[in-house]
Amino acid sequence: DRGNYRHFMAKEIHEQPEVMSRTLGQYLDFTTGRTALPAQLPFDWKTLDRISISACGTAYYAGLVAKYWFERLARISVDIDVASEFRYREAPLPQNGLAIFVSQSGETADTLASLRYCKAQGQAIAAVVNVTTSTIAREADVVLPTMAGPEIGVASTKAFTCQLSTLACLAVAAGRARGVLTDADEQALVSALAEIPRLAAQALRLEPQIERLAKTIAKARDVLYLGRGTSYPLALEGALKLKEISYIHAEGYAAGELKHGPIALIDETMPVVVIAPHDRVFDKTVSNMQEVAARGGRIILITDAAGAEAATVDAVETIVLPAMPATVTPMIYAIPVQLLAYHTAVIMGTDVDQPRNLAKSVTVE
Ligand code: F6R
Repeated sequence: DRGNYRHFMAKEIHEQPEVMSRTLGQYLDFTTGRTALPAQLPFDWKTLDRISISACGTAYYAGLVAKYWFERLARISVDIDVASEFRYREAPLPQNGLAIFVSQSGETADTLASLRYCKAQGQAIAAVVNVTTSTIAREADVVLPTMAGPEIGVASTKAFTCQLSTLACLAVAAGRARGVLTDADEQALVSALAEIPRLAAQALRLEPQIERLAKTIAKARDVLYLGRGTSYPLALEGALKLKEISYIHAEGYAAGELKHGPIALIDETMPVVVIAPHDRVFDKTVSNMQEVAARGGRIILITDAAGAEAATVDAVETIVLPAMPATVTPMIYAIPVQLLAYHTAVIMGTDVDQPRNLAKSVTVE
């Protein structure tokens, strides 16, 4: 049931404050300010040598954000690959290894094949899945459900932010268990995560501005998305979302890679969406924006008030989100990125919920 929404995708974008709240409630204890993972984990955080993450598409981008978190908050090295590559790579895996599989459907053929490979190699298997009755859930040692509820739109939205929410809690728990984070650090991170539903609701209020901006995007032939750090996977996600539902060509790049090739594409007809909260890599991203501006590229900056103030470039449009701690930006910055793709697709008149050539669950390789 689409309720009052024109598409399931719109409904699912708007459900995010609620479903992320439910998901966070599953992994955080707000009374103690601590993370609360299942008591019986099939591995010990303290002796883990490495985490391997495999997933496809949007779920892979959630894993890519998690890599930054696990490395920074828990000092565990993370190997991540798209499942279709991982399964044939014959990757050597460590003695005490944890393999995490991220999947909305829990049925994606390549992700399942990667799981079976890791199991045969003696890895502990964790599944971050939305469908808890799925094959991937059944074959995992521990299931970490994302509480997004049924996702009908083919383009993943609420499942993505719930995957991120789950993985963030996992990374904080890992950091605390490994002694990288103190009790006070954990409590500060838990309070930051607890703010997500409120921040997501604020991000949704930017919809009228984004809807207007979509008119510019709808005229473009190609769109570039740039980001650094945890905003880099969001740039990839923004480009994927735009191309799959509006059929406009888009590319996501790490901002620092711009000068290694894609800068050649930039001219006055090229919108460049820059995802840049005012975080520790913000200044670096500003220099990349200056490179774009110097070549006439039309910058659309997604940032916060401090970022808007500090960005010394002319953006054709600036989308200003509330200020928030760095760990929560991926879950919130995903929202304007999804809305931009959605409204562009609506203008283009495509079948938003059922884009051509795509299936919701990819059970063949
Ligand atoms: C993009 C999208 C896909 C899926 C991918 C993995 O919007 O929905 O890229 O993320 O097919 O599917 P799951 O998560 O079911 O394994």
